[in-house]
Amino acid sequence: MINRAKLQRLAAREGTPLLIIDHDIIRANFLKLRKHLPRVQLYFAMKANPEPMIIQTLHHFKSGFDVASLQEYQTVLENIPKKDLRGHKLNDFIWDKIIVANTIKPVATLQQITGYNTLMTFDNAYELEKIKQHCPDAGLVCRLRVQNVGSVVELSSKFGVEPGDAANLIDRSFDLGLTVEGLSFHVGSQCCNIDNYLNALEASAEIFKEVRKRGHKMRLLNIGGGFPVPYDGSVPDFEGLADKLRKEIDRLFPKSIQILAEPGRFIVATAATLIVEVVGKSFRDDKWVYYINDGVYGTLSGVIFDHIPYHFNAFKRGDKKLSAVVGPTCDALDTVSTAEMLPELAIGELLFVKNCGAYTNGSATTFNGFPKAKILNINA
Ligand SMILES: Cc1ncc(COP(=O)(O)O)c(C=O)c1O
Repeated sequence: MINRAKLQRLAAREGTPLLIIDHDIIRANFLKLRKHLPRVQLYFAMKANPEPMIIQTLHHFKSGFDVASLQEYQTVLENIPKKDLRGHKLNDFIWDKIIVANTIKPVATLQQITGYNTLMTFDNAYELEKIKQHCPDAGLVCRLRVQNVGSVVELSSKFGVEPGDAANLIDRSFDLGLTVEGLSFHVGSQCCNIDNYLNALEASAEIFKEVRKRGHKMRLLNIGGGFPVPYDGSVPDFEGLADKLRKEIDRLFPKSIQILAEPGRFIVATAATLIVEVVGKSFRDDKWVYYINDGVYGTLSGVIFDHIPYHFNAFKRGDKKLSAVVGPTCDALDTVSTAEMLPELAIGELLFVKNCGAYTNGSATTFNGFPKAKILNINA
């Protein structure tokens, strides 16, 4: 984390709102995952932060990328040097660089990416028909519905075939002449419950056995994302979780099965700091209310979409008073925090928010005409 004096210098130079992304931290987080999960091939989930320079940084470490849309797919291709795409057969070059991990893909997207032998997830027969017609060279990954209990962002209501139906769906894929390369699951984002992973691994191993019995061979397991970020002291430590995960993967899956993961939050959340300015203030309901130049419709959209509370730090010292911090738009939903302890601030003073790198700028809008925060990449 860069020190306060440097944050203030950068804000004075660049203006606010300013989102500073520190690529040294991105590298450290990526290497931590790789160190503790050495068997796992990592595909950074671009949805967590779509800033193109992050692709360049992670590509140096041979990371792959999990994309959800054609736009993300193309952004990855634009940010990987052409030389790294040449020299490979068209039919295999994309395999270790991109997985389309959205189970639902528009026909137009499938038509654009056919010919690249792209790995992609699916969880229902309608999607199989689309893939068969518009992208039959895809390598398929069947996504399972798994327990998301205790994860901050649950995904199982929307995605994944019930484990009991997976073998039939996989049979159906092979009957259509498609190739299912393996299984995937996602335990929910910011997963603080290791049992979600352990149960999902167990269920996956059972399905591998069943599919093998039916005469098909799958060669990969994608364990998704969900690795928790230490936003506060209640989050279980990553090393302990990774240790159990590693042992369980080795117990259940022979080395011939390739293990993939799609971490997003873990790689980028702690790498960014947001600096905002107080543009107005009032005293309402017995507390100070500070209006800042970014908010729920901007970088701090994670309050709604990501269920993450953000906390504000002042540069100045002084007696702390109960305060609310709200965004600049005309909507009262644009309330970032109703209970912060802050020294009394004057209009024009700055605040900063740590751990703002995941699900922030990616889902920011310009509602009411307020511009998005400027992004400053450092140590890139
Ligand atoms: C399919 C898929 N993969 C990966 C991720 C990244 O998850 P996380 O940021 O929790 O690591 C998500 C997040 O929603 C997802 O939906």
